[in-house]
Amino acid sequence: MKFFVDTADLGDIRSLVSSGLLDGVTTNPSLVAKSGKDFKEVIKDICAVVPGPVSAEVAGTEYDQIMAEANVLRKIADNVCIKVPLTPDGLRACRHLREDGTMVNVTLCFSPAQALLAAKSKASFVSPFVGRVDDIGWEGMGLIADIVQIYDNYDFETEILVASVRSPMHVVEAAKLGAHVATLPPAVLRSLFNHPLTEKGLATFLADWAKTGQTIV
Ligand code: G3P
Repeated sequence: MKFFVDTADLGDIRSLVSSGLLDGVTTNPSLVAKSGKDFKEVIKDICAVVPGPVSAEVAGTEYDQIMAEANVLRKIADNVCIKVPLTPDGLRACRHLREDGTMVNVTLCFSPAQALLAAKSKASFVSPFVGRVDDIGWEGMGLIADIVQIYDNYDFETEILVASVRSPMHVVEAAKLGAHVATLPPAVLRSLFNHPLTEKGLATFLADWAKTGQTIV
């Protein structure tokens, strides 16, 4: 499973790159607004520190505007992945951008039918929002299961990029289902390490080692 981080905060991204666990980055207009930075500048900075796909979302909703914005964004860096909404104009733009090899992440996916359309549009990634489905009392992971089942029936090139992740259990369940990618808020990615028995066991090892009075170097 590939791990992307869902943020436009360069400090968080830099610290996670050093972990060796980061395969890419996703941003969205809300995360860019939260960063307080110039959009194109922050995407350029992120692309310089993360070798994998960096999703940069268009603001346009009409085909011509989406294509105009995509043409600006994809010139920023080779690893820019254009993020488009799962709408008729978004998917039309996706098809055209993919024809010349531009990576496209189709976002705001909330149903298996939508995910089927994204795959037929040759999207590089489709982003089903698990957390927001859970938030309205439906079963977000059931959406992932349906999409995996559908995609397994065909040789689609589209990778399932589980988004709107709220907890480590979302990551574990998505991995058990075989989703290709999870994009995690920085705090969720860091929390994957956490287990009380690891902390307790390490403390015991260190205490017992200290009793030996030995050093290794
Ligand atoms: O960036 C796409 C998605 O991960 C946003 O999730 O629901 O936390 O805003 P959410």
